[in-house]
Amino acid sequence: MRIEVVGLGKAGLPLAAIIADSGFEVIGLDISKERVEQINNGKNPFSDEPGLDDLIKKYGGRRIKATTDIQMAAKETNVHIILVPLFLNSENQPDFRYIDEAVMGLLTGIKKNDIVVIETTLPVGTIEDRIKPKIENAGWRVGQDVFLAYSPERLMSGFAISRFKEFPKIIAGVDEESSSRASEVYRKFIPRLYLVSNTRTAEMIKISEGVYRDVNIALANELFKLCEKDGIKYNEVRQFANHEFCHLHQAGLGVGGHCIPVYPNFLIQKNKEGTPLIQLSRKINDGMVKYWIETIKNDLKKLKKQNVTICINGLTYRPGVKELYHSRSLELVKQLKALGFDVYAWDSLLSKEEIESLGIKYKKPEECEYVFGEFLIKTG
Ligand SMILES: NC(=O)c1ccc[n+]([C@@H]2O[C@H](COP(=O)([O-])OP(=O)(O)OC[C@H]3O[C@@H](n4cnc5c(N)ncnc54)[C@H](O)[C@@H]3O)[C@@H](O)[C@H]2O)c1
Repeated sequence: MRIEVVGLGKAGLPLAAIIADSGFEVIGLDISKERVEQINNGKNPFSDEPGLDDLIKKYGGRRIKATTDIQMAAKETNVHIILVPLFLNSENQPDFRYIDEAVMGLLTGIKKNDIVVIETTLPVGTIEDRIKPKIENAGWRVGQDVFLAYSPERLMSGFAISRFKEFPKIIAGVDEESSSRASEVYRKFIPRLYLVSNTRTAEMIKISEGVYRDVNIALANELFKLCEKDGIKYNEVRQFANHEFCHLHQAGLGVGGHCIPVYPNFLIQKNKEGTPLIQLSRKINDGMVKYWIETIKNDLKKLKKQNVTICINGLTYRPGVKELYHSRSLELVKQLKALGFDVYAWDSLLSKEEIESLGIKYKKPEECEYVFGEFLIKTG
């Protein structure tokens, strides 16, 4: 059995490494020539992912062969796992471009008895209503010639390898035979695998996790604002309020990254009437940038000084993860700049050149008169 992993990103590459480490030959497909070359040279593009360096050094170009050749990758393998991104378009609707391209790519080379497993987080119904018809339109009988399943990726950047080894993973096929064949393969490299009723349930399980986080972060942000008004320390409240049935989240600048702020929209866009809490939570979390701008303005008034240099300490959406998608700190910099403030940024994961390439001035926190650090709010 040879396994294809389509999309060698922050999620796909650790998966390819885990599969290789379980003894299987992997062909990794990516559209980025640079990434493919790096991996084949044994170099890990994600140095912030513990444990991945060793695995890529060991298997890159050997048991994991990376390629940009779509047809060859599909022809030479019999299990095809897709883990490409799914973003939102400007109307907050899911943009299926990458996943559609990846599925159409597979269809240039798949064979009878091949198994296709999608891992990208998807809106409910995508496997049955979008992916399955594409495979059938290419002439394959799903469940008889080709088998289709869904197993959403649940890793967290920075913990990818350990999550694959320890975290429960779910899987579901579009029919009994697909469930059975796909889970038989996955059990060979995922130790804690659970078969759930159907692909719609599996899609909803993954989205629900993201929505739970978003709603609870919104609650934390609201409680934080109320505490601030009353001179109460939210972190102290949180520390002593939390117990088995109460799990107050951290408050902050909102929610970034391409997971938690994205997935609630999968439900909202399909059911505007039925998602008031989910919609409000999105609004509260995205509104935190404005809240902090008001706080910063009030702090600056107290300094009684003109043209104060402000440093935003930390631009990535989460500490330790070099990812800027929907970063609230970037939005904060943008809005402060638009208001005419003298704003700079610093980040332990980004070089001066990388920060300047974002159109942002670079200065270290100690070189500025006022420092804002989202991660300091969370912990301090
Ligand atoms: N990163 C995470 O923490 C995380 C966690 C859970 C789930 N996920 C899931 O994984 C998906 C991918 O996330 P990521 O962080 O790996 O993204 P990423 O941007 O790091 O990587 C995506 C990779 O896919 C490649 N790609 C895009 N279209 C392709 C195609 N048609 N064929 C081959 N390669 C293609 C890109 O070149 C890139 O290397 C997310 O959308 C999400 O559903 C990610």
